[in-house]
Amino acid sequence: MAQLGNEDLEAFLAALAPRLRVAVIHGGDKTVPGAVLQQTPNCRPWRSYATVAGAIGRSLEQLGFRDVVLLPDDRNLPARLEAERIQLAWLNTGGMQGRDPMAHAPALLELLGIPYIGHDPLNASRLDNKHVFKRELQALGLPTAPFVVWAPSRGTYEAEGPEARSAFGDYAGPFVVKPVSGRASVLVDVVANRLELPAAVERVHSAMRSAALVEPYLPGREFCVSVGGPVACRGRRLFQADGPLAFSALERLLDADEPIFTSMDQRPITAERARALAPEEAALREELFDLARQIYRGFDLEFLVRVDLRMDAAGRLMVLEANPKPDLQHGNGAVNLTTLGISDQGMDYDDLVMGLVAERLQRALLGRDLGHPQLVAIESIVKAAAVAEAPRS
Ligand SMILES: Nc1ncnc2c1ncn2[C@@H]1O[C@H](COP(=O)(O)OP(=O)(O)OP(=O)(O)O)[C@@H](O)[C@H]1O
Ligand SMILES: [Mg+2]
Repeated sequence: MAQLGNEDLEAFLAALAPRLRVAVIHGGDKTVPGAVLQQTPNCRPWRSYATVAGAIGRSLEQLGFRDVVLLPDDRNLPARLEAERIQLAWLNTGGMQGRDPMAHAPALLELLGIPYIGHDPLNASRLDNKHVFKRELQALGLPTAPFVVWAPSRGTYEAEGPEARSAFGDYAGPFVVKPVSGRASVLVDVVANRLELPAAVERVHSAMRSAALVEPYLPGREFCVSVGGPVACRGRRLFQADGPLAFSALERLLDADEPIFTSMDQRPITAERARALAPEEAALREELFDLARQIYRGFDLEFLVRVDLRMDAAGRLMVLEANPKPDLQHGNGAVNLTTLGISDQGMDYDDLVMGLVAERLQRALLGRDLGHPQLVAIESIVKAAAVAEAPRS
């Protein structure tokens, strides 16, 4: 695979950073006057993610970007992007309202022709719809618990129907019921037996107006692992792995009375709630890394995901989901599960951000994206400067 040398890419980044106008985009708020033409329900529990966008923006500034603004992904986004003359966007948004909100911002940027760091609309959607993601995992031969997806149009869930029979056989419970597009364990319900499933499915339908996912409760240990593209950064120096780079393999620590990991809305994520896998657990860590890399390749991803997994009763790893916009809180003591274990690669938060920017730029420079005129033009402007300015060690 063709690659740019690390030093060339570093030089290009150094020359580009002070010149490029960047927007970090977070979720718009539909209740703000003028944000939408008409308010509609949320098919994904809403959050603005503005604080995290601020942390990403501060990190970009640390890395030398001088022109960074935060923008909400509402109706005014195209005008704001034009007014601010934005040349590159970083997507840290789950959308504002309606169906498939995770795909709205990337679809809009595709439409406008502005390059972005984040998943394309199709990947944003298929990662954010757990049933679609799980079907593709099955097609790729990757491990995930059997499941039934039940749309509101199907009416009452048929706990003894053919789909349930085929997915679960004689398994009697417990089950987990959750929205297909969720976040932070919102509306994730542990259900003791089949009899209780129709009511739990109905709860998801009425709250989200979208399909519910039913799967067996996996009683084993819980893990997460992050994975991004091969271009990454350690101590502010770029390096390129042979393939997708998996890192931060953690076990999530649940209290004895905690059947599922309650996410940030209920309990803040703290360093005590997860632990990096120990050196003597190298085989398990490799298994997690390997699954993460297979997902990155199998879905042809172009941006970071955090894969969540749990073990079944037999101790086999099952993929729960891959988060298309993993939480990247940082600063003021905040902890996130992607950078909590990142020191296993000798990396820190700013390294992660720099690597993600470099990964995106490399794709542009190698002509592996749509050849956005903005980046191509900037490339020609800074190429000469980059050669002159580059620190050569
Ligand atoms: N089949 C399952 N068996 C056991 N626990 C589960 C199962 N599915 C989900 N959970 C629990 O619920 C939590 C949230 O589920 P999941 O990760 O699928 O959805 P989410 O709400 O999108 O999560 P996140 O907080 O990662 O955004 C998991 O971390 C896990 O503790
Ligand atoms: Mg999860």
